[in-house]
Amino acid sequence: MSNSLFRRKTIDNIIAEGSDDSHGAGLKRVLNVKDLTFFGIAAILGAGSFSSLGGAVFSGGPGVIVLFIITGIACAFTAFCYSDFASRIPVAGSAYTYAYASFGEIFAWIIGWALIMEYSIGNIYVSYSWSDYFTSFLERMHINVPAYLCTSYMEAKHAIQANTNSLELRSAWNDAPVVAGVRCILDLPALIINVLITYLVYKGVKESRNFSNLMVLLKLGVVFLIIIVGGYLVLHNHLTDNWLPANTEGVKSFMPNGFKGVMAAVAGVFFAYIGFDAVSVLAEESNNPQKDLPRGMIYSLVICTVIYILLTLVLTGAVNYQHFENIGDPLAFIFEKQNLNVGWMQLLVAVCAVVAMTSVLLVFQMGQPRIWMSMSRDGLLPKVFQKIHPTFKTPSFSTIVTGLVVGVPILFTDKTFVLDFTSIATLFAFVLVCGGVLFLPRKVKEPGKFHLPFISSKFIFPLIVLISMIIIQLKVDNYFSNIFEFEVDEATLTYNISAIVFWAVCLLLSIGAYIKNWSLIPLMGLITCLYLLTGMTAMNWAWFGAWLLIGLIVYFMYGNKKSKLAKN
Ligand code: ALA
Repeated sequence: MSNSLFRRKTIDNIIAEGSDDSHGAGLKRVLNVKDLTFFGIAAILGAGSFSSLGGAVFSGGPGVIVLFIITGIACAFTAFCYSDFASRIPVAGSAYTYAYASFGEIFAWIIGWALIMEYSIGNIYVSYSWSDYFTSFLERMHINVPAYLCTSYMEAKHAIQANTNSLELRSAWNDAPVVAGVRCILDLPALIINVLITYLVYKGVKESRNFSNLMVLLKLGVVFLIIIVGGYLVLHNHLTDNWLPANTEGVKSFMPNGFKGVMAAVAGVFFAYIGFDAVSVLAEESNNPQKDLPRGMIYSLVICTVIYILLTLVLTGAVNYQHFENIGDPLAFIFEKQNLNVGWMQLLVAVCAVVAMTSVLLVFQMGQPRIWMSMSRDGLLPKVFQKIHPTFKTPSFSTIVTGLVVGVPILFTDKTFVLDFTSIATLFAFVLVCGGVLFLPRKVKEPGKFHLPFISSKFIFPLIVLISMIIIQLKVDNYFSNIFEFEVDEATLTYNISAIVFWAVCLLLSIGAYIKNWSLIPLMGLITCLYLLTGMTAMNWAWFGAWLLIGLIVYFMYGNKKSKLAKN
């Protein structure tokens, strides 16, 4: 019996379990590379582009494009790492399974625990955004839902405490019926969509796949239309000056709030990219996981990255960045009367946003049960989590629990909180995946399988670190001089401390790269994801730390003793 926290599963064992029906697998293999790419796009393009983009643009101005590029690069490196892992371990489980093979059980558990944030808590944000667009669509159809039935309790409460100007939030609080001293405020559409999605996923992947593919085609269509119509009007109306707006001091800049303003948008921007990794949890339902999974992930990531850059250009060209404060539907907003003034686009965007977010909900709600199923197979969660429905062949119990984990917090959280929480936990999981690939032994190239090319980091990495240090810290924001300046506000202090830790890690990794001659791609994935983490606030870290602590307590009380590896 092994008591080690770092006990590892062998890759051969993981593959054997994945293809062995006695382990509760038996999922239908129905997905090809096109389906997987569509699943990637279904997961990526959603609330991030339709909703959180507004806040990101307000914070960073047109310069937020730089953050989209940095984040796109970080995700591309990470996608290569996911692909490498997925080609070695083509079974369900995502980063969790990968960590089990490389770092050992405790890390696998931590990742599995962090992924609940990405898959379930992220879906809370998407549900709220879905509700925003759905109710605004109903309004355009002259159907008015009372504000207290389409607002989260916490959002209304925080708004009232902050003495908000928003009439809608005031109305939600003031008009809500009071039962036993409690104001009945809830986001009903967000709850209802969660119940519907849970039902669909429970019924099976085939039905969900067809539904999802159709929705992806629709949302790609509308996004291209926004880019073409919006882009044309930006050029035609000579609005390109908006790409160099004046800041509050009257200075014209691509980054009106400096690079710090751009980095403050990191949670919203990164959230927009989350999803390409969800493809890997469908390994057991794809025809040829070793070839198709990497392709599906990389194709979907490349397509979405191009879309984001173009969308951000259109958005920041169409309207001055300062007008995006508290705008939850930025892609419809740019077509409003006072902006580009295209009425039919407003309605179309509202409908398609609902469609886009439905497909995101679907993908994540399918992913979470499959991760829990893997954890249950390993003994880290009770056996009931791997129960497969006899007719639908879906992980039935896990699917219902996922519905509850998304649905119940809808009653007592708000958008900002879940957005930050999801992004920090997902970035953390990405860091561990890239680190895992870095330390796995190199594999021999096999025909027909994805192979991560080896590029030596020995000299390139230290050079990249040096150049980045100069560009990011000295040139862009002259921020280097502020790093050791502690007479600053809390947000700046957090950024400064994060920056010090980040550059210290860069130096250590540069030495490691020189001595150990590591592979450059996973190393770049690791460092770019770490860089994005420097944009998180102290409060984000505190919440995430508390979440990890609870996870560790659960592990030591259950998984550590019940783990299959403990019995070997
Ligand atoms: N990237 C996904 C979205 O934007 C999570 O909705």
